[in-house]
Amino acid sequence: MAEIDDVVRELRTEIESADIGSPDAAETFRIKYLGQKRGLINDLMKRIPEVAPGQRRDFGQSVNALKKLAESRVAAAKKAAEAAPGAAKFDVTLPGREPLVGSLHPITQTRNAILRIFERYGFHVAEGPELEDEWHNFTALNFPSNHPARDMQDTLFVSPSDDGDSGVLLRTHTSPAQIRILKNQPPPVRVVVPGRVYRNEAITYKSYCLFHQVEGLYVDTQVTLGDLHYILRTFSRAIFGSDVRMRFRPNYFPFTEPSAEVDIWFANPDHPGGGRWLEILGCGMVDPNVLRAVDIDPEVYSGYAFGMGIERIAMLRYGIDDIRVLYENDVRFLDQF
Ligand code: DAH
Repeated sequence: MAEIDDVVRELRTEIESADIGSPDAAETFRIKYLGQKRGLINDLMKRIPEVAPGQRRDFGQSVNALKKLAESRVAAAKKAAEAAPGAAKFDVTLPGREPLVGSLHPITQTRNAILRIFERYGFHVAEGPELEDEWHNFTALNFPSNHPARDMQDTLFVSPSDDGDSGVLLRTHTSPAQIRILKNQPPPVRVVVPGRVYRNEAITYKSYCLFHQVEGLYVDTQVTLGDLHYILRTFSRAIFGSDVRMRFRPNYFPFTEPSAEVDIWFANPDHPGGGRWLEILGCGMVDPNVLRAVDIDPEVYSGYAFGMGIERIAMLRYGIDDIRVLYENDVRFLDQF
């Protein structure tokens, strides 16, 4: 018992004289004496069986007093740290910090705007793979086997092949999605397919090695060129405004017959002629050979298809004259959207 009294006395001296001027020292002190698991005061309390039964009450009281003392020293140290000059204080007069708010990329915003318009006319949204095979990207779309677009110069091949069908490539357009959809679902089919496409092109202000398209496809009985003209006129008005001027210009694509391109008139007083026509998409009536490739009878069904460049439309919408800024992710540019 004499020994345990000595321990109490020593602890008291230690606790009274410990230097706990810094917050770190105060925390070390707290753990050492008041810690739940290994704190010296708790340890001492556990030795109560060593104390003669008649003295246990006094012992308990003196250990409790030690605990109170240690606690009051920690509390005092905390108060002193808070009052110290330079201690961090909460200044309620400071203006708030503006939270960083992200925004959708202009390409995403334009893609969404395009999809929303077609959804109003009953088009579903679908997707296709970016890694394609030659059959879907070219052959089934009626590209002849010697078509120059198949060339290594235009197409980024992952693994070329000799048979013209099984080579693997990064899709050069979203049109192969037409084939995948028609193989999976009998007509009527009415879809738009947004996606990224790749071409082995020199990077300039107007072309990039990757870009985005939205493909459209409608196959049913009795779909006509008039339906195609109607939907594209409606689309152009919705995206560019009701006073838009558009024109259909005959063109050639292997997978449509007849084929056309749609141009939009952009007035510009600085331009000779007061403005210029800019192409925004290719389109046409689905070629019977394409329907045959997916076992759909062209005598029963017909369809139209179109494919538009999202970057082209975004650039016209926002007045951007260099496609590369859409890929540089410069925050000063992106902040404007
Ligand atoms: N796939 C063509 C391209 O990448 C665009 C296109 C033209 C898509 C006519 C079509 C279409 O669906 O009918 O340039």
